[in-house]
Amino acid sequence: MKKTLLTTIGLLVMAAAGTAVYRFGFRKSIPQGEAPTQVAAILEQNGCYDCHSSKADLPAYSTLPVVSDMLKKHVDRGTKFFDLERADLENPSEVLLAMIEYTLQHDNMPITEYKMMHWGNGFNKEEKSLLAEWIKAKRAELYATGLASDDYKDLVIQVIPDSLPVDARKVALGRKMYNEKRISLDGSLSCATCHVVEQGGADPRGTRTSEGINGQFGGINAPTVFNAAFNVEQFWNGRAHTLADQAAGPPVNPVEMGDQTWELICERLSKDAALVAEFKAIYPEGLTEKTVTDAIGEYEKTLITPNDRLDQYLKGNAQALNASEQKGLQLFQDNTCATCHVGKSLGGQSFEYLGIFEDYFAAREQSQPDVKYNDDDKGLAGFTGKDADLHRFKVPTLRNLSKTAPYFHDGTMPTIEDAVKAMFRFELGREASEEETTSISAFLKALDGEIKP
Ligand code: HEC
Ligand code: HEC
Ligand code: HEC
Repeated sequence: MKKTLLTTIGLLVMAAAGTAVYRFGFRKSIPQGEAPTQVAAILEQNGCYDCHSSKADLPAYSTLPVVSDMLKKHVDRGTKFFDLERADLENPSEVLLAMIEYTLQHDNMPITEYKMMHWGNGFNKEEKSLLAEWIKAKRAELYATGLASDDYKDLVIQVIPDSLPVDARKVALGRKMYNEKRISLDGSLSCATCHVVEQGGADPRGTRTSEGINGQFGGINAPTVFNAAFNVEQFWNGRAHTLADQAAGPPVNPVEMGDQTWELICERLSKDAALVAEFKAIYPEGLTEKTVTDAIGEYEKTLITPNDRLDQYLKGNAQALNASEQKGLQLFQDNTCATCHVGKSLGGQSFEYLGIFEDYFAAREQSQPDVKYNDDDKGLAGFTGKDADLHRFKVPTLRNLSKTAPYFHDGTMPTIEDAVKAMFRFELGREASEEETTSISAFLKALDGEIKP
């Protein structure tokens, strides 16, 4: 009650101050120039930088007691959603385009309290059409696969292409290496042990984390290898840039394939003269760390999963999704899910904060005290060492979700429904309704694509 009163007073103070700001002519016109300059100016004029920038230069009224608390909370959440300091308006990420598009379509930013402060704020018609054009053009230039029907060609979700260009000989060799147990120190496991291509590309043993060499368990859940080719970076914390870089890691990881060096691995594999000859035929330098991982990376480019029922639907087959699944797709977009889970993979394009509205790790300690906080829980910060990256995880792909349980980086969500409910709670700040959970989960179960053996 007391808090409500204080908030009301705070809002009145802001509204009064807002009138003053408005009278002194806050809004400028859109400058001439290149699109990025214009976009930056529009976002600036509408106050987006006030709450979505880690270098926010807060207005003078922000020191008023109630207003200060309110603003701090908004800036904290705002920058967790997205930080314009990190945004590249020249080459905007698919996620940034999706976020700005969402606010255009839903007219929900800036938030209400702030609009009271700056009466003129909220995109006007001219600004809206300029931003919409920019988003459309950038998406077409940088991300669109052009495979969707006219109805869906500008959609934030993209259709997966049937194939990517590859060198077939390297693919064949890479497939062999992916299934090669001699890469592990004791000959007991291959990449395929934890990423089973016939079963969703993740670890079908269903444990929270994967069992590696000598019965050891790592600290993080194995994601699917399917569609990893579309990821901006590899691993939950992004520590590998390419698929080949990624493939160099597990073989020398003591809890995965063994406490060993690549020198040792190549020496072991080189005892197989036929294998060495196969490498020589394709790579002049023969069998080396670089060529083994290059071949595996090439093979992984074939592990993409086109033609799931969502993609059939987006290509124009209206019957491909049933009514509940279509409702789920709509709710998925309306509830900002698709601003983080974007593009071909419905994910993989950015590192997002886990726990925007509630401390995820505190809640986990309550509900699952046996799961101990470890370095893998730091997310991107575990790789970059930056505080601002703490608890930011690569947004996982949602394709083939029905086959990749359990979910989340820590594998603590046994079912799709659990994961969906947790997303509402921690990323959206509210409880999911029965219908939202059911329809969205139904939609997410329709994402099993084709895989060419
Ligand atoms: C007064 C602070 C404030 C300002 C100004 C502001 N935002 Fe936000 N924004 C937030 C907060 C807080 C959230 C977290 C969601 C919530 O609380 O509604 C958010 C969330 C978002 C999201 C995530 C999706 C969503 O809608 O929840 C987008 C996208 C967004 N803002 C875009 C913008 C844009 C574009 C502008 C400029 C027109 C802007 N915001 C101005 C505080 C602000
Ligand atoms: C013992 C189980 C295990 C083995 C063996 C294994 N992986 Fe993984 N893989 C994992 C785990 C766990 C992760 C997540 C690690 C992280 O993000 O820190 C992962 C992550 C990946 C990713 C990143 C996907 C993404 O979305 O970021 C790719 C790609 C991948 N593995 C491919 C391979 C390849 C190729 C091999 C063989 C050279 C291999 N893995 C061997 C368990 C395993
Ligand atoms: C602010 C960005 C963001 C938003 C918004 C968001 N997600 Fe997520 N989502 C993530 C991140 C980050 C993870 C990884 C969580 C983890 O590692 O523990 C994730 C994980 C998931 C997973 C588990 C996937 C897996 O393989 O582990 C599902 C399912 C999911 N989200 C669905 C949704 C749905 C449905 C919505 C909308 C209600 C949504 N997400 C909104 C960022 C987001």
